[in-house]
Amino acid sequence: MNPFSLSFGKEPVNAISREKLLNDIVEGFCADNPEFQVCMITGVRGSGKTVLMTEVSNEIKKDKKWIVAELSPERDILHALAAELSNQKELMQIFRDAKLNLSFLGFGLEIDAEPPITDTVVALDKMLDQLTRKGKKLLITIDEAVSNVHVREFASQFQIYMRKNYNIFLLMTGLYERIYELQNEKTLTFLYRAPKFTMDPLNARLVAKKYQQIFSIPSGEAEKMADIVKGYPYAYQVLGYLCYKRQCSYEEVIDEFDAYLGEYVYDKIWSEMSEKDRKAAKATADSLTGKISEIRALSDMSSEEFAVYRNRLLKKGIVISERYGYLQFVLPRFAEYINGIHLY
Ligand SMILES: Nc1ncnc2c1ncn2[C@@H]1O[C@H](COP(=O)(O)OP(=O)(O)OP(=O)(O)O)[C@@H](O)[C@H]1O
Ligand SMILES: [Mg+2]
Repeated sequence: MNPFSLSFGKEPVNAISREKLLNDIVEGFCADNPEFQVCMITGVRGSGKTVLMTEVSNEIKKDKKWIVAELSPERDILHALAAELSNQKELMQIFRDAKLNLSFLGFGLEIDAEPPITDTVVALDKMLDQLTRKGKKLLITIDEAVSNVHVREFASQFQIYMRKNYNIFLLMTGLYERIYELQNEKTLTFLYRAPKFTMDPLNARLVAKKYQQIFSIPSGEAEKMADIVKGYPYAYQVLGYLCYKRQCSYEEVIDEFDAYLGEYVYDKIWSEMSEKDRKAAKATADSLTGKISEIRALSDMSSEEFAVYRNRLLKKGIVISERYGYLQFVLPRFAEYINGIHLY
C-alpha cells in the first residue's frame, strides 16, 4: 500500500513530527495554571492545520479528566455542544446526579419532581457548571472557523463561560484572513489577544530522513526531494505518493507533481487572492534576485502600496522573508505555477 496519502484532514501514517507546536498547544491548555483558554492555528491551505488539531485533541484525550468535543462551524454550535455532552455516558451520570432535567431539549431522561429546562443556553450553563465542579475539563475544537453567525454566537457565549471560570477551552483553525475577520468583530476582541500558532514548514532534515527510509535511497537524493517540497506538508505527500506509485525517481514525476499541486491547492489559493495580491505574487515569481526592491519595481506599485500586499502575502503564509530585504515563496514551485497560468 502506498505509504503516502493525498487526502486532506486525515492523519497521515508517515507524519513528520511537529513536536514543538504540539507541545506548546497541549501544555498551554493543560498546565495547572493554563497559559491560555483559547488559541488558534492559522496557515495556508494544505499546511497541516487539521492534522495538527487532531493530534492535539488525541493527546489531550489521553487524560481522563478531559473531554473533547469536535464541532462544526456550519451548525448551531451551542446546541451541538449540549447534545454532545449529554451523549457521553460518564457525563450523563453527573447531570442526572445534579438533577438536571434535560428531557424537554431531548438530551436526557425525565427526572421526577424537577421541571425540565427549556432553553439550550441555560441547560449548557448548568452542564458546564457541573462539569467544572467535578473537576472535568472540556476542550472544544472548531476546524475551519469563519466569521459566521454560528461561530460568532458561540464565541460570544464562550466569553461568558470564561468569566464564570468554567473549565472550558477552545481551539480553532482557519486561514489567516478568516481568523483575522473573526477577531475583528467588535464583540469578539478577546480573540485578538488569544495566541495564534502559525504552521511553519516541516523540518527539512526530518522530511529527507523519512524519504530516505521509505525509498531506501542515498541521503543526497532524499535531500533533493526535501528541497523540492520545501517543508510544505501537502507537497511532501504528493511527491512521495507519485514516486512510490510510479516506482521512479522524483525527476520523472515533476510534471505530475505540478499538476497535483495546481489542481488540488494552488488553483484554490490563487482564486482566493485579490487582484493586487496576484500582482505582487506575479512580481515575486518574475524576480531573478528575490530582492524586495526588485520585486517592488516589477510590481509597478508604489512602496506604500507594495508594502500592504507584501504583508498580506506574508500573513497568508504564501511568501516568507528569511533574509532581510528578500522575499521568497513558501509554497514549492509556486513561481512555476504562476508563470504557467494565463494572467488576467
Ligand atoms: N505533520 C505532517 N507530516 C506529514 N504530512 C502532513 C503533516 N500534516 C499534514 N500533512 C499532510 O498535508 C496535507 C494537508 O493537511 P491538512 O488537511 O491538515 O491541511 P489543512 O491546513 O487543514 O488544509 P485546509 O486549509 O485545506 O483544510 C494532507 O495530505 C496531510 O496528509
Ligand atoms: Mg483543514
